[in-house]
Amino acid sequence: MKHTHARRIAAIEPSIFATMSRLAVEHQAVNLGQGFPDFDGPPWIVDAFADALRSAKNQYAPMPGIQRLRNAVAGYHKAFYDLDWNPDTDVTVTAGATESLFSAMLALLDPGDEVILFEPYYDSYYANCLIAGAQPVCVTLHAPDFRIDAQELAAAVTPRTRMIVVNNPHNPTGRMFSRSELGVVADLARRHDLLVLSDEVYEFLTFDANVHIPFATLPEMRERTITVSSTGKTFGMTGWKIGYTIATAELSDAVRTVHQFATFAVNTPGQHAMAHGLERLQQYLPEFRATYQRKRDLLFDGLRDSSLRAILPEGTYFMMVRLPEGSDDDIDCATRLVTERRVAVIPPSVFYRNSDEGKSMLRLCFAKTDETLREGMARLQNC
Ligand SMILES: Cc1ncc(COP(=O)(O)O)c(C=O)c1O
Repeated sequence: MKHTHARRIAAIEPSIFATMSRLAVEHQAVNLGQGFPDFDGPPWIVDAFADALRSAKNQYAPMPGIQRLRNAVAGYHKAFYDLDWNPDTDVTVTAGATESLFSAMLALLDPGDEVILFEPYYDSYYANCLIAGAQPVCVTLHAPDFRIDAQELAAAVTPRTRMIVVNNPHNPTGRMFSRSELGVVADLARRHDLLVLSDEVYEFLTFDANVHIPFATLPEMRERTITVSSTGKTFGMTGWKIGYTIATAELSDAVRTVHQFATFAVNTPGQHAMAHGLERLQQYLPEFRATYQRKRDLLFDGLRDSSLRAILPEGTYFMMVRLPEGSDDDIDCATRLVTERRVAVIPPSVFYRNSDEGKSMLRLCFAKTDETLREGMARLQNC
C-alpha cells in the first residue's frame, strides 16, 4: 500500500526511549535511561485506588475530570502558589501530561503558526507541533549553564509566532529557570501577544533552596499561560497516566474541545486515588523531596571519580553528564554502553535541532533504587 503515513507525521522519528529500552532488555542492562522510577509509589495511594475500585467508581468520569480531583488541583495552586483557579472551568484532567500537551497544542495552534521550543526539548513538543501543522522553532539552552539567552530568544520571534513552550524544572538539563529568565519569556509573550505552554510536571522535584516559580504567577501571565502537570511525576505512578491542564476558562474550553474527542475522560478510580494524594501533598512532599535529593547526591558524588563530568541538577530526576574530550558522539557512546557495559542511558542529541552540543553529553535518570544507581555507576566508571 502506498499511503501509509499522512504528510504531517512523515517527519516524526521513532522515539529514542523505545530504542534504548529495547536494547536495555536485550542486553539485560541496568537502566538509567528511562525517565520513571523503578520502585513503587506510596502504598496509601495504591490503597486509595483499590478502595475506589471496590466502591464502584468504575464508570466514565465526567469529561473534565472528577470534581474532587479538580478541587484538589485548584486547592494546592491556591495554597502553594496563591493562584485562584475555578475548578469547574479552569482545570481539565487528561491522560497524563502527554495528553495535556497534545490537546493544548492541537486546540491552540493553526497550521503555519510558529512555536518556540527551548532545546534540548521534551520530544512530544516537537511532534505535537508537526501534528498540528505548526512550525517548531528551536532556541538553544547552551551547556553547561543551560540559561535562557534573551537575545537568541527575541531573535526567534516572528509575526507568525503563536506560542512559547517552557518546561520548568527542565527535562533533560535539570535546570530551574530564574525569575529574570522567566521574565524575559513573559516580556516577549506580553509584547507579541503570545501564549505560553508551561510544562511543570517536575514542580515538586526541586532540590536545595531552589523554589519552583509557576509561570502563571508572573505579572499578567495568568491570562496567557496553559499550565500542565502530572500526578504520575508527583507520586511516582507514571503508569496511571493522570495529568491536568490549568488555564483560564476560555483557553480551557479550547483544550477541552480536543480532550473530549481525543480521550473524553481519564480512568475514574485513578482520579479518586490522586485526589486523595493531592489533598495530602503538604504531609507527603518533605519525604518525597528528601528521597530524590539523596538519590541525586548519590549519583553526583558517585560520578566524581569517573571520566564523566556531571552537571548538578536543581530539579527533576535527570542529570546531564559531559563526555570526556575526544569521545565518540553520544549515540555511539550510549550504544556502546548498553551493548558492552550493559548500562542504558539516553543520548540527548535527539532533543536538539540546531546545536551539536547534545553530542558531547548523556542523560542519566536517578529515579532508581540505590542498588540500581550503585550498579549503574560501577558500570559507568572508566567508560
Ligand atoms: C517534561 C515532561 N513533560 C511531560 C511528560 C509526560 O508526562 P505523563 O507521563 O504524565 O504523560 C514527561 C514524562 O517524562 C516529561 O518529562
